[in-house]
Amino acid sequence: MALRALFAKKTLTCASSFAPVSACLDRCLGSSVRQDRALTLAALPDLAYDYGALEPVISGEIMRLHHQKHHQSYVTNYNNALEQLDAAIAKGDAPAVVRLQSAIKFNGGGHINHTIFWQNLKPVNEGGGESPHSSLGWAIDEDFGSFEALVQKINAEGAALQGSGWVWLALDKTSKKLTVETTANQDPLVTKGATLIPLLGIDVWEHAYYLQYQNVRPDYLKNIWKVIDWKYASQVYETATA
Ligand SMILES: [Fe+2]
Repeated sequence: MALRALFAKKTLTCASSFAPVSACLDRCLGSSVRQDRALTLAALPDLAYDYGALEPVISGEIMRLHHQKHHQSYVTNYNNALEQLDAAIAKGDAPAVVRLQSAIKFNGGGHINHTIFWQNLKPVNEGGGESPHSSLGWAIDEDFGSFEALVQKINAEGAALQGSGWVWLALDKTSKKLTVETTANQDPLVTKGATLIPLLGIDVWEHAYYLQYQNVRPDYLKNIWKVIDWKYASQVYETATA
């Protein structure tokens, strides 16, 4: 009875799926919704490639720790906060509801950001690093002058970001213009504006590169372009501009 009650209360998304991240992104990111008092929790998405498949750009050890430890902890802590929030709302405990917002923002943001990041990466032998073509390629040329100028801008802003955070290539769906943005800590791009759609997010937390690049973040940024999956970014762009 207790077990049945637990399953009625919680629904894990993507928890047992071996589908690539892209197949469950919407479910994973759209999972924190309440439906008829049920609380749907987030789950760690599977990667579409092996941990060592991005070497030598990103080591397998970094990828394993990043996915299994760091991303998993964001998922766990986000779910814990959601459960506490659900209980606080049920009790009408307003101070607890407010207190939980920072944990939800940090851990929920970590889950959102990393779920996008894994999809922005692809092994070289599967097309990683191939420059964007068609509509996104043309938009990059129009808004930044050239693809090389965009890479230079992202590398500069990512290197200059103090502490931990993310550097993004985003589409402003209102103006239809591309823009480069940075966010601190695990703030997701939506905190910079509700009209911004993330096409590419690069994690510049030390846990993303330190074991391999030590404190030389610019080298990590210079190399990561060799494993960026521009097809994913193009698909998001084309869907958003259709
Ligand atoms: Fe990370």
